[in-house]
Amino acid sequence: MNTPLRLGIAGLGTVGVGVLRIVQGQAALLAARCGRPITVSAVSARSRTKDRGVDLSGLGWEDSPVALAQRDDVDVFIEVMGGHEGAARDATTAALRAGKHVVTANKALLAIHGQSLAELAEDQGVALRYEAAVAGGIPVIKALSEGLAANSMTRVLGVMNGSCNYILTRMESAGLSYQEVFNEANALGYLEADPELDVGGIDAAHKLTLLAALAFGTRVDFDGVELEGIGRVKIEDIRHAADMGYRIKLLGVAQMTEHGLEQRMAPCLVPATSPLGQLEGGTNMVVLEGNSVGQIVLRGAGAGEGPTASAVMGDVADIARGLVIPAFGQAARSLHSAPRAISTSQAPFYLRMALQDKPGALAKIAHVLGEAGVSIHRMRQYDHIDDSAPVLIVTHKTTRSALDQALAAMNATGVVTESPVALRIENV
Ligand code: NAP
Ligand code: HSE
Repeated sequence: MNTPLRLGIAGLGTVGVGVLRIVQGQAALLAARCGRPITVSAVSARSRTKDRGVDLSGLGWEDSPVALAQRDDVDVFIEVMGGHEGAARDATTAALRAGKHVVTANKALLAIHGQSLAELAEDQGVALRYEAAVAGGIPVIKALSEGLAANSMTRVLGVMNGSCNYILTRMESAGLSYQEVFNEANALGYLEADPELDVGGIDAAHKLTLLAALAFGTRVDFDGVELEGIGRVKIEDIRHAADMGYRIKLLGVAQMTEHGLEQRMAPCLVPATSPLGQLEGGTNMVVLEGNSVGQIVLRGAGAGEGPTASAVMGDVADIARGLVIPAFGQAARSLHSAPRAISTSQAPFYLRMALQDKPGALAKIAHVLGEAGVSIHRMRQYDHIDDSAPVLIVTHKTTRSALDQALAAMNATGVVTESPVALRIENV
């Protein structure tokens, strides 16, 4: 079939420009692999006059992404604007209603509206694809929905936010504080326009929910993620972790347990020698575990023009070849709503706190831990700062809910001068 597949690209930022560069620069390769040319009919962005370093001559222009989505000469609507409401949601919905395939890099949109958009796509008999939305250039959506389709998935985990991994590894290598590296990363343009999306773990949690839906046949449940960002991690935590043979990573884990679907995104200690522990800078890593395949580790660039546009164009290539599979690997209405398993799985925890340096302070902490059924594995008191004593405790395996009970009681003892930081130790 030689009919061109015609794209409309909404958004000409990092990803949109990358997509245009691939369409223009790899035209012959794409046509050969897809059996038909891939062309761009028209584009949309906020500013028509901005120089974007790519050739827009000969392309149609729409001020309105919705109008772009509805054009007769657009077969595939590429949404690379961002945001889960407004233009991204309106135009994506309009495209699907108009019977256009949609490819998006927008994890926020799908984490919030994925179910309704997937149902609409299926009703319309078109594809809704989002490889670029999770772990940038790593083809993890394709791995789960196609290559691993015959597996009962047992666990999905990984480091899915490059900015947080950059901050944590840079703190360690340069011996800098969280705030210093945060400022540096922000100045370098590494963080989202709203940095809280990155450092608050929200962006990574959006991604985790999409993987969980694919892996477990569940409806996307962003509100079901136990979420904690990296803002309270101090350079001392990174050093203490290193002393014990661990590194701190913003780790996402999704698994189906006897209590329901567990989804958590939080800074954790992982063994320094593990593949996750060795991950440097802005790189992402996703670990997939299935009953037949065992464990698969995927590693690569989680962001940036080339890797993200590569993932978008992988989806476009599938559509050009006629592949239309459900967005979440099975009919959207057959996805089930799993109960939320919050804070139920057990792990050892790392606790750092500062206590008043007076008789009985440590005993009070040991007492509240014991009352909550949390057993101490190791404990160490560091050099005093003024009249405050930094204390590090590693617990035996416990649940987060038992620990939270102990933490609340600790704060009520009156001996805690700096509220405890609690990090799960994940022996992956
Ligand atoms: P970006 O550089 O900020 O670009 C966004 C583009 O969207 C801009 O061209 C902007 O127009 C346009 N836009 C925004 N609102 C619009 C509206 N209402 N109407 C028309 N155009 C509008 O963003 P990006 O980094 O390319 O990211 C795009 C999407 O990909 C986001 O969902 C992001 O989360 C996702 N993503 C990005 C990366 C990455 O490495 N950057 C990786 C994975 C996923 P103007 O240029 O005229 O302002
Ligand atoms: N802010 C994201 C990150 C961009 O740092 O991983 C890619 O989704």
